[in-house]
Amino acid sequence: EQEEAGVWYDGHELAMKLYHHLLVSSPEGRKAREYLRKRGFTKEMIERFQLGYAPDSWSFLTDFLQKRNFLPRDMADCGLLALRESDGRPFDRFRNRIMFPIWDKSGRVIAFGGRVLEADDKPKYLNSPESQVFNKSRLLYYFHGARPAVKRKNEAVLFEGYVDVISAFRAGIEHGVGALGTALSEEQAKMLRRNADRVILCYDGDEAGQKAAWKNAEILKKSGLEVFVAALPEGMDPDDYIKEYGADRFADTVIGQPRTLMEFKSVYLRRNKNMSQEADQLRFVEEMLIEISRLPKAIERDHYIRRLEEEFSLSYDVLKQEMKEHVQNNV
Ligand code: GTP
Ligand code: MN
Ligand code: MN
Ligand code: MN
Ligand code: MN
Repeated sequence: EQEEAGVWYDGHELAMKLYHHLLVSSPEGRKAREYLRKRGFTKEMIERFQLGYAPDSWSFLTDFLQKRNFLPRDMADCGLLALRESDGRPFDRFRNRIMFPIWDKSGRVIAFGGRVLEADDKPKYLNSPESQVFNKSRLLYYFHGARPAVKRKNEAVLFEGYVDVISAFRAGIEHGVGALGTALSEEQAKMLRRNADRVILCYDGDEAGQKAAWKNAEILKKSGLEVFVAALPEGMDPDDYIKEYGADRFADTVIGQPRTLMEFKSVYLRRNKNMSQEADQLRFVEEMLIEISRLPKAIERDHYIRRLEEEFSLSYDVLKQEMKEHVQNNV
């Protein structure tokens, strides 16, 4: 590990405390407090996740760190500050944003996600740049906090967003973690695999979220996890759902009764198809057969072929024959 790393951790820890203080008890933080209150964040959530507020200033954190003798160079290297291109002077990277501290596996703050308060400000979320201590593909949001619950339940829940992890925690789902961005790495899958046998993907109920769920399901399965996928109504994310239908229904239904991976695939492959049209039905059957052909157990393959047989009144033998051709393509 780098020699500067100690200073990097200290800088982040200090910034987290400062941003948090500004959020909970400064006049500058009023707008941010109001924003979080309207979104339903409680005091407990703000404390547990140490949420903060970066004020609307180019030099607030910069001045603060310089007064404490942190070198601008170090603070820029670890992503806390940014450097002006023209003359290399440091300035605050995060301005007028709600701050979500990001911890590493051992619970040290190593990065931030910053959310705008105004809907039309861009980008909605700004994350710290990657550094030697912040490697997005090796990290899951709130992993250090969720880990005991993940082990206890032998299960993890994977969300898309910071807010989803936090809302779900409030709803009693304490074994939830977040992927920072949609593409999951093998390394992240292994982090989960080392702590649990099962994972529930709980991604946004929109095209992008479901597509990411499909892709990530394969990665998780490959690492040896048993994969389930939570079903959310079209256009809703977990946080929206909890707000609309309440914590109990979320915990009991969405997380409590997730789809198996094949059930999810069967629903997903019907998206953007008109299932009353013969051509789309046949396309669906074809795509399902490909997925069925990839199942390792004959008994599972048989089970899902029978389902297609029933639903579409197709001949079992023909379906099986077709599926077998795909098995041959797989090897
Ligand atoms: P809220 O709007 O606050 O409820 O956030 P969300 O989590 O519902 O946002 P969304 O579903 O749009 O995105 C999911 C996750 O993708 C976020 O939590 C971020 O980690 C990431 N993300 C979203 N927008 C951006 C962006 O503009 N830039 C970056 N770098 N990441 C983003
Ligand atoms: Mn506090
Ligand atoms: Mn989304
Ligand atoms: Mn979302
Ligand atoms: Mn959301």
